[in-house]
Order: sequence, then structure tokens, then C-alpha cells
Amino acid sequence: MTPAGSAAGIVAAGLVAAGLVAAGPAHADALAAIHQAAFPPDAAWGPQVMALQLGLPGAFGWIDPRGGMVLARVAADEAEILTLAVAPDARRCGLGRALLAAAMVTARGRGARKMFLEVASLNAPARMLYERAGFAEVGRRRRYYPSGDDALVLRADLVAPDAP
Ligand SMILES: CC(C)(COP(=O)(O)OP(=O)(O)OC[C@H]1O[C@@H](n2cnc3c(N)ncnc32)[C@H](O)[C@@H]1OP(=O)(O)O)[C@@H](O)C(=O)NCCC(=O)NCCS
Repeated sequence: MTPAGSAAGIVAAGLVAAGLVAAGPAHADALAAIHQAAFPPDAAWGPQVMALQLGLPGAFGWIDPRGGMVLARVAADEAEILTLAVAPDARRCGLGRALLAAAMVTARGRGARKMFLEVASLNAPARMLYERAGFAEVGRRRRYYPSGDDALVLRADLVAPDAP
């Protein structure tokens, strides 16, 4: 349990107040439903994968009940976005940006100083979202996806919530 008054606890309280729900094993079905709406069938994660991912050491997630979800994990001073998805009929309303920000601030509150993620080079909406959140390319995995598309490895520095 997060100690009340800790940096992580204060961050989480703010995100809950903003309408986000902290994802736990009981949310595996809801997480999968959003993911399956957002991704093609060969890339969508089911409830079992959601539960497995949430069970990874340092993993956490946030759900926007309007149709968005993010899973991430922290290991020492590094964090990773495991997945981020917004259902098609909830897009372009700021959910993706807010969920990414929630993951970044949560990871920072848990001690991470930088965050990594992978994105398909042809995924223009996600690339724009990540670029505007401060992520920059630090690597490329050629033909990483079954489609033949490259995976870009992006990194962002995580700043303290009270940094200027
Ligand atoms: C990528 C994704 C999460 C964006 O979610 P969203 O809720 O629509 O994003 P937001 O409304 O918060 O948009 C934030 C910014 O992202 C960028 N963006 C989002 N969708 C975009 C699009 N279709 N085209 C161009 N830029 C886009 C814009 O810069 C946007 O800011 P703006 O609205 O002020 O222009 C959503 O499209 C999605 O779930 N896609 C399928 C799954 C996926 O690709 N996940 C990421 C895998 S790494």
C-alpha cells in the first residue's frame, strides 16, 4: 500500500480526483475491452494478458472510464509504457494525453527519472502525442512488427511535479 502523504500517494490522489481509476486485477476485463476497441485483433490484449502485465514487478495502470487506458512499469530509476489505448469514439478529446501524463507523473512519483516506450514508425497519431509530451527517438528496431514496420524506441526525461 502507498503510504498516505508520500509523493506517490499525493500524485495518485490527484489523478483519482481528476476522474482516473487506478487499474488492478479486477479491471482486467475493462482494460481488455478498451484495448480490443483500439487495436486490430492481432495486436489487442485479452484479460489474461492484462492481468499478467499488471502483475509484473513495478507495474501500474490507469483507466479513463470514458474509454482509455494505460499500463506502465517502474524498475529502479527507469519506467516503461507497456501500452496505451483510447477507444476510437473517445479519441481527439485529450484522453490519450491525460493518460500518458498520468503514467509519467506516477512513474516520477515512484522514483523513475526517465521513461521509455516503443511505437510503430507508421503510427502518426501516437508519434505526435509522444513527441508533444517530450519523447524523442533514441533507437530503432527494424522490421520489429509483423507488418514489417519498424519500432521506434522513444525516451523522455521525467521532471519532478514541482519543477519549474
Ligand atoms: C494514440 C492514441 C492513444 C491517442 O489518443 P487520443 O485520446 O486520441 O489523443 P489526444 O486526444 O489526447 O491527443 C493528444 C495529441 O496527440 C496527437 N494526436 C492524437 N491523435 C492524432 C491524430 N489522429 N493525428 C495527428 N495527431 C494526433 C495530437 O498532437 C493531439 O493533440 P491535439 O489534439 O491538441 O492536436 C489513440 O489514437 C489510440 O489509442 N490509437 C491506437 C492505439 C495506439 O496506437 N496506441 C499507442 C501505441 S504505442
